[in-house]
Amino acid sequence: MHVAIIMDGNGRWAERRGLRRTAGHEAGARTVRRVVEAAVRANIDVLTLYAFSSDNWSRPADEVDRVMWLFRRYLQSEAAHCVENGVRISVIGQRERLTLGLRRIIEQAEQVTAGGRRLTLQLAVDYSARNAIIRAAHSLSLDSGSDETSGDMDRGTSQSFAKRIADAMHSQVDESSVDLLIRTGGERRLSDFLLWECAYAELVFVDAYWPDFGEAAFQAALEEFDRRERRFGGLSGSRPAQLAGDAI
Ligand code: IPE
Ligand code: IPE
Ligand code: MG
Repeated sequence: MHVAIIMDGNGRWAERRGLRRTAGHEAGARTVRRVVEAAVRANIDVLTLYAFSSDNWSRPADEVDRVMWLFRRYLQSEAAHCVENGVRISVIGQRERLTLGLRRIIEQAEQVTAGGRRLTLQLAVDYSARNAIIRAAHSLSLDSGSDETSGDMDRGTSQSFAKRIADAMHSQVDESSVDLLIRTGGERRLSDFLLWECAYAELVFVDAYWPDFGEAAFQAALEEFDRRERRFGGLSGSRPAQLAGDAI
């Protein structure tokens, strides 16, 4: 089970309270800890959190700096807690544009938590799904012997192209298809997140701002997911076995 979350609404949460937007990001960082713990308890295999998009670089420098600082602090303060809970941290995104200091802290957090087997926590930073797809297409163009260049879409070519997309954003996850995508903050869009991986994802939109999201809301989203019938293009009750769970 792969759950992905677009953690949106930090800025509005703060503005509603007459606070600076950065206070919303601080409150949002606290929510991350709660939701990771809830995901472990719910036996989720992979949790991918959208922390900073490639388009978020266009925000004012002080806001960007604060988000990066919080991200750094999260990795430093949570790594030990993640080890205790069996959580493996993996940062996905372009990484090259992050500062050297932050990159070193990411590598440390990934190393320290590498043995985590209960949950893989993917943190998406400087992430762009369109960029991932373009990089995957570029890598394919350099690999003319690959079956994928035939243009045929079957399970094999789809899986190997999915691997190129995962590699482009440094994802270590073998099965990258998202089962459930949650977006908080009331907006109903994907904002360049996991476009390929969400091909058959169930989408759940929540009005609560991310700092107000907690275990109960997370559980409610999982219950909503359980009520949905996934058909993968087949008919009700006759789900094609070879596609169930590994949407191409
Ligand atoms: C999401 O919250 C967190 C980041 C993009 C870093 P926002 O900062 O987008 O909050 P709103 O949408 O402006 O309320
Ligand atoms: C998406 O939220 C990015 C993250 C939550 C990290 P945005 O707030 O950046 O998306 P838009 O601008 O509303 O589409
Ligand atoms: Mg937003």
